[in-house]
Amino acid sequence: MSRDTPHTALLDPLAERLGERGLLREPEAMTRYVADWAGDRLGEPLAVARPATTDEVAETVRLCHEHGVAISPQGGHSGLVGGALPANDGSELVISLERMNRIREIDPVNFTLTVDAGCILESVKEAAAEHDCDFPLSLGAQGSCQIGGNIATNAGGLNVLRYGMMRELVLGLEAVLPDGRIWDGLTRLHKDNRGYALEQLFLGSEGTLGIVTGAVLKLTPRPDQSRTALLGLPSVAAVVELYGLARRGCSDLLTAFELIPRRCIELAMEATPALSDPMDDAHPWYVLMEVAATGPVDLDAMIEGLFERGMERGLVLDGALGSSEAQAQQLWQFRESMLEGQRRRGEHLRTDIAVPISAIPDFVARASDAVMAQSPDCEIIAYGHVGDGNLHFNILPPRDLAEGDKRDHLHELETTLFAVLDDFAGSISAEHGIGRTKQAAYLARLSPVERELVEGIKALFDPQDLMNPGRILPARH
Ligand code: FAD
Ligand code: LAC
Ligand code: ZN
Repeated sequence: MSRDTPHTALLDPLAERLGERGLLREPEAMTRYVADWAGDRLGEPLAVARPATTDEVAETVRLCHEHGVAISPQGGHSGLVGGALPANDGSELVISLERMNRIREIDPVNFTLTVDAGCILESVKEAAAEHDCDFPLSLGAQGSCQIGGNIATNAGGLNVLRYGMMRELVLGLEAVLPDGRIWDGLTRLHKDNRGYALEQLFLGSEGTLGIVTGAVLKLTPRPDQSRTALLGLPSVAAVVELYGLARRGCSDLLTAFELIPRRCIELAMEATPALSDPMDDAHPWYVLMEVAATGPVDLDAMIEGLFERGMERGLVLDGALGSSEAQAQQLWQFRESMLEGQRRRGEHLRTDIAVPISAIPDFVARASDAVMAQSPDCEIIAYGHVGDGNLHFNILPPRDLAEGDKRDHLHELETTLFAVLDDFAGSISAEHGIGRTKQAAYLARLSPVERELVEGIKALFDPQDLMNPGRILPARH
């Protein structure tokens, strides 16, 4: 298709429909839409549409469908697999949901909240809190990621072990299909077993089946008390054993149980100089855990009991308890700042693998041995969500490796890591999705039956392959 055709046939009518604020066509105005949080990918959009209502999204998509123009749906640019960024050849129209940020309805008795898909996660959590409720999805990017992005990536985060992933927190959905039709599935029902669960197809679809424009979210009661502790431990095996004790000993009130290696504590202190070493001695591994409850529960006794049992068994070496809100926040600051610390180290391998919880110690040992044998000067940073069996087994390349050689080197290490993972029947993507960066590894592990089903679903929704083409599955043209 020539560059002139969409300009005249699509963009002019779109500009008329969406108005000046609704369509950006100048390169300077579009720079914000071609880089993600990690800053490691760029693209060149045909233009950026910023519809303000579901009808405007539908109209935009309908016009694209009519003119055969591909679409790149965008939320808050915090995705980590390059799925939201437009192709480099100026062929895709970015549709950003950023102006669709209305809280539509809250029903605290039904424990539901209905929102536009462009609402920022943090503001959804605040809206729930105003009604003594909680929307329990929590992740480092919550100040910028959007509900639509969380749905499209089936986001996980820090509290999955108690509340589940986004998949378990969505009751109903509204979406614009690739031909511009609106599907209204905004049910507020907690139980509904009529036929296939269509809304679930959009969870983790990464913008390839349609644009999510609204959602009914499931709320939980807002905990009125919580305790956070950072514990020092001798080994990953001790971390997993302590997790079992915590699940059993804390009345299932555990909301987070995060593995943090010593290197991440150092990276956090580098990124945020106000942080100081949390304990007198350095420990090889740390656990950042949180318990939360409503009603008359003695959380202090619970945490102290766990700490004592952990010490007696040699699992816990030391600990810092965040008894005030401010202290708790400071402990969480380590978890947040360590991500910034990693980002500042430039190009590195980011993964989000999963193995059974019981296999974590063995996996970390075997994967570390394999990677270090291949690249003795790289740095492994394995951290993550123990209660979900989901680790970010990340790798910083050797410091003296030439910049231009890093990508290939990291790719070779990823191949080694995933080969170990296959021995554990693990997942190469437990949290962040496939997007572009994990596509080859994903496809290599799909059985022919799975591939046929996945391609069939895509073809049913998007026969022309216009909705986020080339993400998850290869582009068809
Ligand atoms: P974007 O990055 O804009 O898009 C992501 C994908 O969703 C793209 O494929 C895009 O096309 C699609 N998309 C976006 N909006 C829509 C829509 N309305 N309809 C259809 N498709 C859409 N993830 C976790 O699971 N757990 C974590 O703990 C976690 N922590 C993170 C911490 C940091 C600091 C960062 C930067 C990211 C983290 N993530 C985490 C990654 C996570 O995927 C995103 O933060 C979030 O879910 C993406 O939302 P977004 O609005 O930024 O989406
Ligand atoms: C985390 C993100 C990167 O858990 O998933 O830090
Ligand atoms: Zn994570």
